[in-house]
Amino acid sequence: MIERPLVLVTRQIPEVGLALLREVAVVDVWDGDLPPPRDELLQRVAGVHGLLALLTDRVDDELLDAAGPQLKVVSNFAVGYDNVDVAACARRGIPVGNTPGVLTEATADLAFTLLLAVARRIPEANAYVRDDRWLTWGPLLLLGREVSGATLGVVGFGRIGREVARRAGGFGMRVLYYDSSRAPEAVETELAATFASFDDLLAQSDFVSLHVSLSAETRHLIDAAALARMKPGAVLINTSRGPVVDQAALTDALRSGHLWGAGLDVTDPEPMRAADPLVTLPNCLVVPHVASATERTRDRMAEKAARNLIAGLRGEPLPDPVPAPST
Ligand code: DGY
Repeated sequence: MIERPLVLVTRQIPEVGLALLREVAVVDVWDGDLPPPRDELLQRVAGVHGLLALLTDRVDDELLDAAGPQLKVVSNFAVGYDNVDVAACARRGIPVGNTPGVLTEATADLAFTLLLAVARRIPEANAYVRDDRWLTWGPLLLLGREVSGATLGVVGFGRIGREVARRAGGFGMRVLYYDSSRAPEAVETELAATFASFDDLLAQSDFVSLHVSLSAETRHLIDAAALARMKPGAVLINTSRGPVVDQAALTDALRSGHLWGAGLDVTDPEPMRAADPLVTLPNCLVVPHVASATERTRDRMAEKAARNLIAGLRGEPLPDPVPAPST
């Protein structure tokens, strides 16, 4: 490894990660609250040996060229890596790392938080009290959807989808899942989850929770046709990536009342502006991509991202490599 390699970190991340990096490298941290503007990023990346990027940075040919041929590793501070052109990195022999595993529980917790909050109309109920409209107990006041005993459809049955299924068990829910491949029988048994076709899952689920990564196949997976196939009165939860859902179609489905509600941690684009119809609809709860935002999880992500970067600087295999696309 070069004696003191140069590393660019594109935002403040938890100190635990920065401290690890400072032990081995000269660390340049972009300390703005917003991501570095593109032109600034292109300048700042020139000459670095390691790049610790966030999902708000587009890592593509242009950026890699701006960095220069000495760049040895890209470490993404996220499990998702749709912001990184992994093929472009592979063409240059640059390994890419991500942070799987450490944000599974936090993300599953947030998916379930959204599910409960939408089902029980928590934002509306809270606004009702804040607006001083609470005058009495009412038999018909703010009625929601029953979660216990309902059917949950989990789309994408990887680490996070499985943890959501586990939480559903605690609520006595029936769990269906859909994935491109079937989970081992032991996992199905442990989580009491039943494999279903995508169409059957949509038709039978009271709650549908999305846990797929973003790819050409999953972009607008939930389009107008998929929404129409969902059970009337169902709830859609998205903690995966915004473009998995066709938001115009979702807006229509929420306005028409075909869907009871939606809970979105991710949108397309991000950030979503307050004037967006999805933010203004009373049956849609939007939060700003915070599924992994717990102190412990962000510390663990920082540590993982730093360890990937350090391994790459040393020319060692990354602890959490993103698979290079097959050519
Ligand atoms: C990820 O890691 O991909 C999340 O979206 C942010 O934590």
